[in-house]
Amino acid sequence: MLIRKPDSIASSEITPERVYVSRRHFARSLALGAGGALALSSGMSRASLTDRELDNSLELTPEGIITSYNNFYEFGTGKDDPKKYAHEMTIDPWQVKVTGAVAKPGTYDIEELLDGIAVEERIYRLRCVEAWSMVVPWMGFSLKALLDRLQPLGKAKYVEFHTLHRPSEMRGQRSFFSGIDWPYVEGLRLDEAYHPLATMAVGLYGKPLPNQNGAPWRLVVPWKYGFKSVKSIVEIRLTERQPKTTWNLLQPSEYGFYANVNPAVDHPRWSQAMERRLPSTLFSPNRVPTLPFNGYAEEVAGLYAGMDLRRHY
Ligand code: MTE
Repeated sequence: MLIRKPDSIASSEITPERVYVSRRHFARSLALGAGGALALSSGMSRASLTDRELDNSLELTPEGIITSYNNFYEFGTGKDDPKKYAHEMTIDPWQVKVTGAVAKPGTYDIEELLDGIAVEERIYRLRCVEAWSMVVPWMGFSLKALLDRLQPLGKAKYVEFHTLHRPSEMRGQRSFFSGIDWPYVEGLRLDEAYHPLATMAVGLYGKPLPNQNGAPWRLVVPWKYGFKSVKSIVEIRLTERQPKTTWNLLQPSEYGFYANVNPAVDHPRWSQAMERRLPSTLFSPNRVPTLPFNGYAEEVAGLYAGMDLRRHY
């Protein structure tokens, strides 16, 4: 993954966060409208938010940064490319193929898959392997709710996700410089996928997901490096074998399949002990220590009991 030069986000781009913070005290949620468009409605569930998650370490990153400082190589390798070009991607209609070891394979409209699933606000840290991080108020639901609907067969051990491959609308896929064998693929072990923190996000800051953040839906795995959180998903495949994932294929010595956030295991080219929590600029740096499993060790460490996390990075 490329390391970009230090970010310099103009303060004019930053949405006054206190406006949102005060607004989110009101009940709200995302629901599917009749036409399939995501719309705001009342009755948000905050069941997933613990007191700990609402403490000061989770001060929200301003919306203007979350939606303008992105990694989405399908639109270019610059942090500002996704915001500039992702509007070229058509997200309606959006079909999703469900394949592999599953009782309900088929091609579905996203509305069918989302129908009846309750969406709630989930505030999680996002830690990129490049050593920057954000705190994002996602709108989403547990991946488990979706998997239960698709019914993985007993022999399924992993779940694999594919991003849209549409070079006509994704200029990064037309470029010879990315080196990526499209589509972007990520995956989880099935027990990881069933963990309540593994989230399918359809929005952020109480609004539908912007294209640059992975519209119309994406994965969010808060205890893993951000590259596991694959965007704009069009295929979900249940497999018996560990998926061949994009960054692992590209640089196996640098990006593992597990990619659990781990301050004790450095990337071969830089330390993972600290992170730049955005907003953080050259003149006003905001460096914070990186936490094991990105601060979610209490919840997820048990998934890796007995595993050598240096070997399975
Ligand atoms: N998904 C796709 N399809 N393509 C990408 O390039 N980048 C990943 C992940 N998902 C990426 C992707 C990386 S490296 C990170 S850190 C997060 O998306 C960034 O998510 P954000 O731009 O919403 O902050």
